[in-house]
Amino acid sequence: MTTGNDQKTRTALVTGASAGIGRELALVFAEHGFDLVLVARRKERLEALAQEVQGKFGVKAHIMTIDLANPAAPRQIFDEMARRHIMVDALVNNAGFSVPGYFRDTHWEDQKGLIQVMVTAVAELCHLFGPGMAARRYGRIINVASLAGHLPGAAGGTLYAAAKAFVIKMSESLALENINNNVHVTALCPGFTYSEFHDVAGNREEMNKLPKIIWMTGDVVARQAFDAVMAGRPVIINGGINNFIALLARLLPQRLVHSLMARNQRNAKAKPRAA
Ligand SMILES: NC(=O)c1ccc[n+]([C@@H]2O[C@H](COP(=O)([O-])OP(=O)(O)OC[C@H]3O[C@@H](n4cnc5c(N)ncnc54)[C@H](OP(=O)(O)O)[C@@H]3O)[C@@H](O)[C@H]2O)c1
Repeated sequence: MTTGNDQKTRTALVTGASAGIGRELALVFAEHGFDLVLVARRKERLEALAQEVQGKFGVKAHIMTIDLANPAAPRQIFDEMARRHIMVDALVNNAGFSVPGYFRDTHWEDQKGLIQVMVTAVAELCHLFGPGMAARRYGRIINVASLAGHLPGAAGGTLYAAAKAFVIKMSESLALENINNNVHVTALCPGFTYSEFHDVAGNREEMNKLPKIIWMTGDVVARQAFDAVMAGRPVIINGGINNFIALLARLLPQRLVHSLMARNQRNAKAKPRAA
């Protein structure tokens, strides 16, 4: 078992475990001997994954179906863990989506949901579960951000990069605050990754035009994330190409970077949900 510095069975709670990167992160934690708490809205998906990991890795897997867009959800998750006597040793804040289209054309309810799921719930779950981890002197937190959080904002998906930049900064601070507590906090920053993300956003057709070389699989992203959090790395950008892009965004003159971003209209062109 490679869960840490003793033989106790650890438990990892993964939000957005019903698909994509979250599902892969859950599989990697299970492979390393963690019991799981799988959180998302789609119950059948969570049940199927729970059965899969129990069969493959012999770990326990609990499920909790909940909509993280509900402001009460983080507290309900925390209380439910206490009620079930489940101690969360690893927290993976992964659930997320984008709201494509120009900001002016979108519904505020959708934007509010994005902030709740990808900013407020992420912060609140860290705030709820972090103190117990620090007190027990063991914790692993992965907050799923994005390469987008390292780049200037693009037209469309207006709050997405902003939310991800928030997650990166918050994770860096939390990592430093917990440096003596054996609580590792990592902001995971994938670039384009195969998942259901772009189907949900409705821009799959546009995305399919991008060269295959820039895409990564969720499995590779998840394995790199696991290694990074165990090693105590506060930020990981997945893959050489994504690291190169982030480096260019830091080193090139900002006017040039902004004019390059102005060419990227993929998210703006995707249609927001109908009124
Ligand atoms: N794919 C990429 O190219 C990419 C790149 C960079 C970063 N990311 C980030 O990676 C994370 C995972 O995305 P993905 O690519 O794996 O997308 P995905 O395949 O669409 O999975 C998204 C997950 O989030 C859950 N979720 C969404 N809204 C939720 C809500 N209101 N309440 C509870 N769960 C919710 C979904 O579960 P239910 O629908 O069952 O609730 C699903 O399990 C996101 O934070 C995303 O921003 C993705």
